[in-house]
Amino acid sequence: MKPKVYVTRHLPKVALAKLVETCDVEIWDEEFPPDYDLLTEKVADKDGLVCLLTDKIDADLMDAGPNLKVISQVAVGYDNIDVPAATARQIPVGNTPGVLTDATADFAFALLMAAARRVVEGVDYVRADKWQTWGLTLLLGQDIAGATLGIVGMGRIGQAMAKRAAGFDMRLLYTSRQRKPEAEAKLGAAYVDFDTLLQESDFISLHVNLTDKTRGLFGAEAFGKMKETAVLINTARGPVVDSDALYDALKEGQIGYAALDVTDPEPLPVDHKLLTLPNIIIVPHIASATITSRTKMAMMAVENVIAGVKGEPLPFPVNSI
Ligand code: GLV
Repeated sequence: MKPKVYVTRHLPKVALAKLVETCDVEIWDEEFPPDYDLLTEKVADKDGLVCLLTDKIDADLMDAGPNLKVISQVAVGYDNIDVPAATARQIPVGNTPGVLTDATADFAFALLMAAARRVVEGVDYVRADKWQTWGLTLLLGQDIAGATLGIVGMGRIGQAMAKRAAGFDMRLLYTSRQRKPEAEAKLGAAYVDFDTLLQESDFISLHVNLTDKTRGLFGAEAFGKMKETAVLINTARGPVVDSDALYDALKEGQIGYAALDVTDPEPLPVDHKLLTLPNIIIVPHIASATITSRTKMAMMAVENVIAGVKGEPLPFPVNSI
């Protein structure tokens, strides 16, 4: 009998085809995620679970699946999964690092440029039929060359962002759990303390995991130390930024602009106060959304779940069992 796997959302064809070769697969094929209670029922007889960042995978859910041998997340971030609870139950957890690094850094840099040069405001201006003449001072933005980019979190994606910024002649500062001598030598990035990064950066881009330490890292205190013209770019996780404090900082001109791929809450309701501000760009968590990246992510998640149900080590593990 094939091992039973539950997949919480539609996967690219090629990944699904590989999974059904070895597993008996049940898929939640809807646009919206399965709710928690349904997921709890579904894992009851499953050997493996393929999940997304929208699924809450906690200890109770794991206990509802007594045969669960692996949890395979189709994402690099996994703050939706209680990994210590999985480890305590000897359940390996897998993720999909590496294959979305360039796509995510490209998008973070696209947001940086769009905010600096007010691209979205320009589009809105034309669509609203306000474009009547060429104006010397129309929609003036900020220079990128020569500006200082502060990178918070110099992991894979942070370093890829630094590489792009170096190509645009930006000065680079970073904070990170560990120093990255390679990025310092190759890209000229300077390791600084958090306050220095806040005070000196024209642009700040977030590339940290969501943890107890990073939740709310950007709140009133941090915004108070940033430049009045500073641009904040978040492609990491929404709750790293305190949404209320961000609203106040943007509204009161404590900082200049924000460009968010991720928000708190997520999805952001259309009547949220952040969406009333002119100096913000918000897009729906799409930084890794290229066909290639998403297909590779799904393939890695399938490789993880197949290994897990066979009792083999995961090729891309989060925890060590
Ligand atoms: C997307 O946000 C991911 O963590 O892969």
